[in-house]
Amino acid sequence: MAVKRQILICGASRGLGLGLVRAFLDADWQVHAVVRELRPASPLEALRTQRPDALQVITCDLNRQDASCTVAAALQDQRLDCALFNAGVYGPAHQDPRQAEGEDIAQLFLANAIAPIRLAQQLVDQVVDGGVIAFMSSQMASLELARAAEMPLYGASKAALNSLLRSWQAQLPQLPWSLLALHPGWVRTDMGGDAAPLSVEQSARGLRNVIIDQLQRRHCAFLDYQGQSLPW
Ligand SMILES: NC(=O)c1ccc[n+]([C@@H]2O[C@H](COP(=O)([O-])OP(=O)(O)OC[C@H]3O[C@@H](n4cnc5c(N)ncnc54)[C@H](OP(=O)(O)O)[C@@H]3O)[C@@H](O)[C@H]2O)c1
Repeated sequence: MAVKRQILICGASRGLGLGLVRAFLDADWQVHAVVRELRPASPLEALRTQRPDALQVITCDLNRQDASCTVAAALQDQRLDCALFNAGVYGPAHQDPRQAEGEDIAQLFLANAIAPIRLAQQLVDQVVDGGVIAFMSSQMASLELARAAEMPLYGASKAALNSLLRSWQAQLPQLPWSLLALHPGWVRTDMGGDAAPLSVEQSARGLRNVIIDQLQRRHCAFLDYQGQSLPW
C-alpha cells in the first residue's frame, strides 16, 4: 500500500481552511487539522466521524507562544509533506490607523504575521525534504499592486507576513522545501463575504493543486490559487 502524503492545516474550523481539509482528503492525503475549538455538530466534527483514519483534529489557539508544543505533541514523529498556515483575521472593521487601538493592532499582526511564521519555524524539522511550507497571504500584501486602499491594516499585516517569509528565505543558504505565500482569490467565506466571486471549493481545489505542483521545487514564491505569480 502506498504511503499517504501528510498535510498540517492550521486554522481549519471553517471557510477556506475547512475547504482545504476537504480538498486534501479528496486527494487521499492524511490531514492534521488545527482548530481553536472543535465545535460539536460542526462540519469538521462530521468529517472526523466519517474519516477517522484520514483526519486528525488538533485543538490549539495558534496565537499562543507554546502552540508548537501542542501541535508537535499531537503529530508525534509524523513527517509532513506540507505545512499550511491558513488562519487569519481581518482586524478592526474601520481599518483606519487613526482609530486603531494598540491591542487590536497587536492581535492583528500577531495572528496574521508573527504566529504563523513562528509556528512554521518551530515545526520545520517535521517537514520532509522537498516538501512545502505555505502561508495564506493575500494579494492585499503586494506593495507593487497596492490594492489594499480599503483595508490598509489588513493589507499591512499580510505584507508583514510576506516580509517575514522573505527574511526567512534570506537567512537560509538554500531551501530544503518550497516556501510559499498564497493568494486564494476573493472567496465567499465569513471574511470574504457573500459578494465574492469564488466558492470555497473552487479556491481550495486550486490551492491544493498549486501546493502539489510545488512539491520538490525548493523555491520561494508568491502564487495565486491558479498558480500565477504575484509581485511582492
Ligand atoms: N476569503 C477571502 O476572500 C480571502 C482573500 C485573501 C486571503 N484570505 C486569507 O485566507 C485565510 C482564510 O480566510 P477565510 O476567508 O477562510 O477566513 P474566515 O472564514 O474568517 O476563517 C478564518 C479561520 O482562521 C481561524 N483562526 C483565526 N485565528 C485563529 C487562532 N488564533 N487559532 C486558530 N485558528 C484561528 C478561524 O478559526 P475560528 O473559527 O476559531 O475563529 C477560522 O477557521 C485567512 O488567512 C485570510 O486572511 C482570504
